[in-house]
Amino acid sequence: MMIFVTGGAGYIGSHTCVELLNAGMDVTVFDNFSNSQAEALERVKSITGKQLRSVEGDIRDGVALKKALADSGATSVIHFAGLKAVGESEVDPLRYYDNNVVGTMRLLESMRELNIKQLVFSSSATVYGVPQFLPYTEKHPLSATNTYGQTKLAVENMLRDVYRSDASWRLAILRYFNPVGAHPTGLIGEDPQGVPNNLMPYVAQVAVGRREFLNVWGNDYPTPDGTGVRDYIHVVDLAAGHVKAVQFLERNAGCNAINLGAGVGHSVLDLVHAFESASGKPVPVKVGPRRSGDLDAYWADPSLARDLLGWSAERGMEAMCLDTWKWQQSNPNGYKGGI
Ligand code: NAD
Ligand code: WQD
Repeated sequence: MMIFVTGGAGYIGSHTCVELLNAGMDVTVFDNFSNSQAEALERVKSITGKQLRSVEGDIRDGVALKKALADSGATSVIHFAGLKAVGESEVDPLRYYDNNVVGTMRLLESMRELNIKQLVFSSSATVYGVPQFLPYTEKHPLSATNTYGQTKLAVENMLRDVYRSDASWRLAILRYFNPVGAHPTGLIGEDPQGVPNNLMPYVAQVAVGRREFLNVWGNDYPTPDGTGVRDYIHVVDLAAGHVKAVQFLERNAGCNAINLGAGVGHSVLDLVHAFESASGKPVPVKVGPRRSGDLDAYWADPSLARDLLGWSAERGMEAMCLDTWKWQQSNPNGYKGGI
């Protein structure tokens, strides 16, 4: 079975390619490499000992996209391609609507023309907005507090509308919580350009000595230690969830939104302490003001993923930190530094 993976060279995409290949599926990646390196795909091949096809292209280019999709012979699509930096989305909203919403529309048009109607979409817990109850279940009301979140919500709504118009589509909307970690080989991982926005890559760069200390964005939240609480999910578990979602779509029509989280909340300081133990390195912190737009605490109810997909997270905070540390040490400057 051939799977067409948009954005397959990125952080979550590359880990998912490994799991798909290991599950005996074939893979064609379609990526414009705007936020990734082709080297990641070479490493996917060396981890798995298998080949994959890769086409360089932009999902907004409907002609190139349709050709690549047709040539691939794929029967299923996993759609990772998009932009994901919340701050950047506030500065340049049209670029985010263009990549994430228009890009997805082009993809759905190509799929419809080729009669390929199976899609797994990367959504985000950000579509739940301010928690009205916790843990978030898939029935929690949806809202978005920033442009990035609006684009995810717009695509979710587009998918629901497409399904309502034609019930032969098979759509899985996966709402990721906070993906962290790296492949245990240390060969692939998250490679943020510039100063990392997200907690785990920042902590890793402090531990390796690239940055002096971590700014903790607020310690006056109504949480056990005052710092923000999130549901961190190991990227290898997340990747395995995509294999389960593809297998689920093989058996079931429908349009289902499904949380992929561990179901456990960890604070910023929990993560810092776990990273210090895993790495044996100190991670100095300085407490600063709250970051604008941050929520105090949220985590997933992952029971629907267990019931529908037969999936649950297996790797805890220790593995998340150990694997991030291995990746960071082996690739102190990301893919560009070589190995
Ligand atoms: P990433 O930036 O590492 O990967 C995205 C990939 O898509 C990159 O390889 C990039 O080059 C490619 N891409 C971007 N725009 C494209 C376009 N127009 N045409 C073709 N390729 C394009 O990001 P990631 O962390 O792997 O995230 C993958 C998906 O999951 C994204 O849609 C993101 O919004 C979503 N998501 C990520 C997180 C997270 O915290 N990492 C959380 C929730 C949801
Ligand atoms: C986690 C915690 C920060 C950095 C973002 C997106 C979300 C999703 C995942 C895509 C918070 C604190 C962080 C730092 C800190 N992405 N922190 N110092 O904000 O939960 O989620 O990524 O869909 O949409 O918003 O993740 O890793 O940035 O922050 O104290 O230098 O760490 O305040 O409590 P976040 P994060």
